[in-house]
Amino acid sequence: MGTGHGYGKVILFGEHFVVYGLPAIVSALGSRTVATVERTGGPGFELADHRLESPGYKKEKFAEQSASLENIFSAMGVDPRQTPFRIMLGGDLVAASGVGASAASCVAIARALNDEFRLGLSEEEINAIGYEGEKGYHGTPSGIDNTAAVYGGVLRFRRDLQGGPPFFEPVRIRQTFEIVEGDTGVTASTQQVVGDVRRIREEQPEFFAGILLSYEKLVAAATRAIESSGMEELGRLMNENLDLLRKIGVSSRELETLIEIAGANGALGAKITGTGRGGLMVALTPGKKSQEKVALAIEKAGFRAFRASIGPGPESQGGR
Ligand code: MEV
Repeated sequence: MGTGHGYGKVILFGEHFVVYGLPAIVSALGSRTVATVERTGGPGFELADHRLESPGYKKEKFAEQSASLENIFSAMGVDPRQTPFRIMLGGDLVAASGVGASAASCVAIARALNDEFRLGLSEEEINAIGYEGEKGYHGTPSGIDNTAAVYGGVLRFRRDLQGGPPFFEPVRIRQTFEIVEGDTGVTASTQQVVGDVRRIREEQPEFFAGILLSYEKLVAAATRAIESSGMEELGRLMNENLDLLRKIGVSSRELETLIEIAGANGALGAKITGTGRGGLMVALTPGKKSQEKVALAIEKAGFRAFRASIGPGPESQGGR
């Protein structure tokens, strides 16, 4: 039996803009997907997906998941028609839009197959296979989610637009801080939302270039704020990042409700995290008291809230 895991993630800065080669800041979460691979008598391949989920997520993603698995098997040179096996998915990461659930599962599966078939792959190779798996979910992933799923920690990530391996480095974070994520419960199609943003870029190139320019300045300041534990500044920059995301049309009514609740309950900043148009909102709530206040207000309004801490170390803390 082979096993492997992949971390969930929260994008603090730069979803969507990262697709166009700009740097983004991502943190892995303590929660992860765990995959187990067992050989069977066949025929072919079986999947037992026991992950916890936001309602409807697995059904919504089933076709993309099948394409992703084909990509992973082919990249790893394993053929369930020749060597039948079963993959079981579990772990404490709730499968929802915005948490990097697809990447966490791709990486967990790649690790579990590597273990079972004794392939001896390096972390870099596992990451490259995770990326191939992510392509099944949407054609042009930046690679940020699978990189966070493999390496953990808080990373500054940049895609190589020429197709080479991505550039990423740990952010020098000294002080742990708390966040709350609010789940809209709406499953978004990353493929569709990324496609819509691409269309804006093609149809309004000057407008889009202006947004990227504003974002580039913002992310440089955000890196400094995280490294110097400037929480007020970090919150302000998250709000600015949110405004840019609104301008490219990836917010939604539910996300705006969650952002409003976070602000009204003392969050220093809040934004969409991940694909948007559903999925998750992340709020900066340093200190357990502030975190609890925001999380309870979200829950009282009928949404699910996840509490997590972002800090130094390979994985940040937090259940979901
Ligand atoms: C999805 O978690 C983040 C996006 O920027 C897509 C990507 O980077 O591949 C929306």
